[in-house]
Amino acid sequence: MFRFLLLCQLFVFCKQEFIPTGHLQPLGSHRPPEGAIKSVELVPTPQEFYNEYVLKGQPVIFKGAAKLSPGFQLWSDSYLREKYGDVILRVDYGKKENRARPADNMALGEFLSIYNDSDRYLVDTLPEEMWPEFSLPSCLLCGGFTSRLQDAVLWYSSGGSKSFLHMDTVDNINCMISGVKHWFIVDLEHTKLIDMDHGEGDYCSVNVDKVDMFKYPSLQNLPWWSARLEQGDCMFIPYGWGHQVTSLFRNIAVNIWWTPLQRFNSTDCEVNLEKLGSSQAKLSNFKFTTGEQLRFMALQVIKDNGGSVSFETINPLIVGEHTGERLITQKRFAMLDKDQDGVLTEDDVMSVPADVVDEAFGQTPPGEVNIRGQSRHSDPEVTSLLASIGVQPAIVEEFMLRDDKTLEDYERFLSYFSDPTNDHSDLLHDEVRKFIEERINELTINRGQKKDSEHDHREL
Ligand SMILES: *[C@@H]1O[C@H](CO)[C@@H](O)[C@H](O)[C@H]1NC(C)=O
Ligand SMILES: *[C@@H]1O[C@H](CO)[C@@H](O)[C@H](O)[C@H]1NC(C)=O
Repeated sequence: MFRFLLLCQLFVFCKQEFIPTGHLQPLGSHRPPEGAIKSVELVPTPQEFYNEYVLKGQPVIFKGAAKLSPGFQLWSDSYLREKYGDVILRVDYGKKENRARPADNMALGEFLSIYNDSDRYLVDTLPEEMWPEFSLPSCLLCGGFTSRLQDAVLWYSSGGSKSFLHMDTVDNINCMISGVKHWFIVDLEHTKLIDMDHGEGDYCSVNVDKVDMFKYPSLQNLPWWSARLEQGDCMFIPYGWGHQVTSLFRNIAVNIWWTPLQRFNSTDCEVNLEKLGSSQAKLSNFKFTTGEQLRFMALQVIKDNGGSVSFETINPLIVGEHTGERLITQKRFAMLDKDQDGVLTEDDVMSVPADVVDEAFGQTPPGEVNIRGQSRHSDPEVTSLLASIGVQPAIVEEFMLRDDKTLEDYERFLSYFSDPTNDHSDLLHDEVRKFIEERINELTINRGQKKDSEHDHREL
């Protein structure tokens, strides 16, 4: 074996003999988990939660904590249809996450009539109408967490959905109203080593059903933790921990995101002790803010740059994830630079009110801000074509915006719209058809040339 290894260092082709464990297998096949995420029967007090889990960055499962939400009993399909059937929500295509596909909107009632037999996945902010039926876990009710709430997101599918391996720049509690979720979880330090090839969205586009260990060598020895979240459980996932989630059965989850809390406010717990009562926990009693998360992001850039940043440094770093637009202009920089000395420090950013931070980021939602200057890569020709002809049917946009389309993909797509037995041909804009035909031509010519050159090599 040893001699074989030595030989392999000399001959690159040996790599093919040396298949890493878990190659082309589902994520997590490369080695057993370090263990299961700790699980507790009682939700801790806010102070205990802060000391034991938030401060230490330690995930934990609160068994049965989601059962305290009224929605846990109420949210059958028929109840939801009757009460909220008209609410319009964002529904993704494909349970396997594909961030290049735009979602489209439909009424909850419509989603409910198709979701059991389709590949659609509802992912959107929990509609405000439903807030009285979801309760915050009691460990968040005082100490400062509730003034840093970012979002409550509803995840709804008939099971079988799979996320990308990704991380979030917020603290998170995920509560299972229905179904089960399996989690592949990576601690903060090891997450930093994962090749997040889509830095704009903090995710790794590895195929989680069939991991290519050569393309993603950072996954070959990655230690990981497992968690199984049962119906009625909630789990805390700290900021920066990588995770990949697989959902089973009729699956409804609500997760709460909040900006990491730097200092626990014990006075707040003394003053607001009565808030710990369950009727006070309803989400409708709280408000979401964006300024604190944006402040947190600005502080990170400052910290990463040794404690202070100039306009020239920060300007290219803070961009819109979708547009690449530089959000911190000279004028907005001045709004954050409290002492007007031309550099931003922690003191500057801490001393401006949250709504000013919001304004300085152009009111951009924190989820769409990237602090490493990365924005979504997309074909500029496609984007400008779509912009010039206006809104297209979702099926067309979804296809056009998807990365890495092959000749076969284009041909299949075009033949679908040319088939007289489905009357969709009118859905395809002439400009889009022309664009696809040109691409098919180019790809056919390229492929012909590639064949020729392969042929040449063989003759050599
Ligand atoms: C979908 O399937 C679940 C069981 O998996 C069932 O409880 C639910 O009523 C079904 N919904 C509809 C609208 O058929
Ligand atoms: C701590 O909480 C109290 C009571 O809610 C509040 O008045 C005070 O402003 C808070 N302190 C900080 C630093 O946020």
